[in-house]
Amino acid sequence: MRIKNKMTTKFKRPDGRAIDELRPIEAKVGVVPNADGSAMYKSGDTIAIAAVYGPKKMHPQHQQNPLKGTLRCDYNMISFSVSDRIRPGKNRRSMEISEITKWALEPVLLLDKYQNQVIDVFIDIIQADAGTRCAGINAAAMALAHAGIPMKDMVSSVSVGKLDKTLVVDLTKEEEDFHEGEGPTDIPISMIHSGRITHMQLDGKIGVKQLKEAIDLGKIACEKVYEIQKKALKDAIDMENGGKE
Ligand code: CDP
Repeated sequence: MRIKNKMTTKFKRPDGRAIDELRPIEAKVGVVPNADGSAMYKSGDTIAIAAVYGPKKMHPQHQQNPLKGTLRCDYNMISFSVSDRIRPGKNRRSMEISEITKWALEPVLLLDKYQNQVIDVFIDIIQADAGTRCAGINAAAMALAHAGIPMKDMVSSVSVGKLDKTLVVDLTKEEEDFHEGEGPTDIPISMIHSGRITHMQLDGKIGVKQLKEAIDLGKIACEKVYEIQKKALKDAIDMENGGKE
């Protein structure tokens, strides 16, 4: 798919990446041995660790849903993840991101099978340089698959941004702080492999036409993320079967 992005030729990103280029990505599953499933997803200097526990009986009992299981997500940026120490514990931002992570992942899970049960997903951001909610969703989706929880498909997430008038993929913190012209717009998007969007947010301003272009860029970028998630899961299976690392 070709995206028309008229300003692209003139625009130089601070780290020299092409407008549709993701940061270097690393992904691995099985990073938390005590968890039922776990994964690490690293995009540039942003690193997310996800650990899945369950499905297990929901406690406290009054929170049990006899019709379907519950997905519980807990996103947390740990104190040393940025240069200014973050105050530990929940805040409005972390509660919002926990909720949108749940929205992003729920559509691929077969929660009807898990009446009265809960699947707990803990996401810790150990290093933050923007795009942490997307990295957390990517790690969480891999950790759910690693836990052996039946999923209709993988979920992949990436942030598309508009810096002044130019669309770019996978913003760094430096880019999120860009303040020339129309300034920065940040659009985190999560998609099922089929292309269906499960989560999208918009922080900034963008016209309808350019938003459609941003979604198309996001689709292509999520497809690249998907290939990396798939490889990490396949590598883990190969290792368990005594194959190559
Ligand atoms: O991380 P994400 O882009 O999903 O969310 P954000 O709220 O737009 O935060 C962007 C970035 O700001 C984070 O990734 C961190 O690098 C930084 N940040 C921070 O330094 N201190 C905070 N309390 C929150 C965010």
